[in-house]
Amino acid sequence: MEKSLVLIKPNAVQRGFIGEIIARFERKGLHVAGIKMMQLDDDVLDEHYAHLSHKPFFRVLKDSMMVTPVVALCVGGLDAVETVRLMVGATNARKAAPGTIRGDFSMSGEQNVIHASDSIESAQAEIERFFGANEIFEYESAVTAFEYGCDEKAKM
Ligand code: PPS
Repeated sequence: MEKSLVLIKPNAVQRGFIGEIIARFERKGLHVAGIKMMQLDDDVLDEHYAHLSHKPFFRVLKDSMMVTPVVALCVGGLDAVETVRLMVGATNARKAAPGTIRGDFSMSGEQNVIHASDSIESAQAEIERFFGANEIFEYESAVTAFEYGCDEKAKM
């Protein structure tokens, strides 16, 4: 099953949105395959945001991710990476569509509540970055038949 990596950022932890954000993914039908709270440090953030190291906001972004622990979440489903990104919304939350997580919970491009993998390749790398193999769970869902059609299930 395709999986994506989500980080519930310190600003969402501070504002008490952990439960509501997880509930949105569950309600959508994405299955939680891994979940944990963790304190990020400079080393893991250097790796995670390596593609942004040239940006003027690199230091600010990294600092903002260390203010409190984050909640790392691995969710799975058909086309999970694209589906999660659609649910998350635009980076600048003021421009994120209402109904998206950023659109509903934030006014900021920096304090924007949540990170989500932007491709299948980066999802794979990010899941390995934040979870050990024994922290990701593959289990039979009792409700898949009511969440997907037969053709869709065959693609999973
Ligand atoms: S994208 O499409 O989400 O990758 O957008 P991008 O603009 O490339 O942003 C990548 C991450 O950088 C964060 N960001 C910022 N942080 C602090 N200050 C400023 N000004 C700023 N602009 C962008 C943005 O929230 C993205 O973080 P993640 O954790 O990947 O969502």
